Amino acid sequence: SGPPQRLVPQRSRGNGIPQAALPLVQVSSDRHPRLSSGFGEFDRVLGGGIVPGSLVLIGGDPGIGKSTLLLQTAAHLAKRGPVLYVSGEESAQQIKLRAVRISGTESLRLGVESEQLYLLAETELEAILAEIQALQPQVAIIDSIQAIFWGQLSSAPGSVSQVRECAGLLMRVAKKLGVALLIVGHVTKDGSLAGPKVLEHLVDTVLYFEGDRFQSHRLLRAVKNRFGAAQEVGVFEMTASGLVEVDNPSQLFLSSRDQATPGTATIVACEGTRPLVVEVQALVSPTSYSSPRRTATGIEPNRFLQILAVLEKRVGIPLSKYDAYIASAGGIQVAEPAADLGVAVAVAASFRDRQVDPFTVLIGEVGLGGQVRPVPQLEQRLKEAAKLGFRHAIIPNSSVLADSGLRLSRVQRVLEALFVALPSSEPGQ
Ligand code: TYD
Ligand code: MG
Repeated sequence: SGPPQRLVPQRSRGNGIPQAALPLVQVSSDRHPRLSSGFGEFDRVLGGGIVPGSLVLIGGDPGIGKSTLLLQTAAHLAKRGPVLYVSGEESAQQIKLRAVRISGTESLRLGVESEQLYLLAETELEAILAEIQALQPQVAIIDSIQAIFWGQLSSAPGSVSQVRECAGLLMRVAKKLGVALLIVGHVTKDGSLAGPKVLEHLVDTVLYFEGDRFQSHRLLRAVKNRFGAAQEVGVFEMTASGLVEVDNPSQLFLSSRDQATPGTATIVACEGTRPLVVEVQALVSPTSYSSPRRTATGIEPNRFLQILAVLEKRVGIPLSKYDAYIASAGGIQVAEPAADLGVAVAVAASFRDRQVDPFTVLIGEVGLGGQVRPVPQLEQRLKEAAKLGFRHAIIPNSSVLADSGLRLSRVQRVLEALFVALPSSEPGQ
């Protein structure tokens, strides 16, 4: 990658006064090519690969697969140049065992067996900095920032001051040397602040690796990115031999089309630039509590409560006497308002013990007055649904759309959507 560049070009305007500012036209726009992680999904979430010299924070629950993802990435990168994998949590032997497990493909085996993949099992910051300086790798991985400590501070590893200081010093060295830094931060269950949150503003890119520990799929989500679109999502599956990227993720979030159950509806959520077709399931049953239970898994709880209130007030379904549960298939998190209409229809379907046609998708935001509002990226959503074999979409009454091959039912109110999705039923009964 060449010698480190001077940050401040020393020039003079001719009057003896040094000038540091450059006219914009003279600034070179040559960019170092990005480094591929070896995963198309990871590269896309990064905005096209790892930017040399950039700082990337990867947060996630313990055990979700951060170390696995980064070890596979390190093995891929090691085919092109030196990579330093610093582990403060596992011994070199443990990492070796994992590396053997993930080297199922020829390509990864070459990386794992290359002389360029360096392991350092170390928690002391100055030793880590010295190694980065000595090796000058293209990428250094710090797993995890909570395990590293700087002897100059009296606080314990993982404390806010240790995390902040260690990250700051690592970043300064990495920026100076043009080493890309991938930093792992565990998110703790109590949302402890010493986690990735304190670092988000310092780094170029913040990614979260999420998923249900008991399900095999994992989502890598960009929440901040100076070099690409935020909210981009990559989908992986954890297998016995490491992480595998998923090319057709919508299929993960749909159960079998021929086993429709009452209270199920299909929505199309947009995660970044990618639409995902996701099944939502509702269960409504008479309550035995003075205040009914509401539980939302994968769906924004406040939006769920709002939709229940709209159904009660605008459609006349007496939900205050019923417990109501909603869950997305596969536990995927859907925060988007475009899911509202599907949630509303799933709840109404469960209340009436009716099935929604399994080849219908529902897209739309629901307003407090019971109106169905337009959502962004409608055409992409319809295209994705058509690709997966859906035949019909219930959508907001919006502008003209290119033909997606789906039959479209445009609705202005939730009540209309219920008539279309659950035909021959009386609303409110
Ligand atoms: P890990 O990468 O250690 O998680 P993190 O670094 O985020 O804490 O992943 C640990 C889990 O992944 C563990 O439960 C075992 C599982 N796993 C597999 O299923 N297959 C594999 O090939 C590997 C390496 C791990
Ligand atoms: Mg780990």
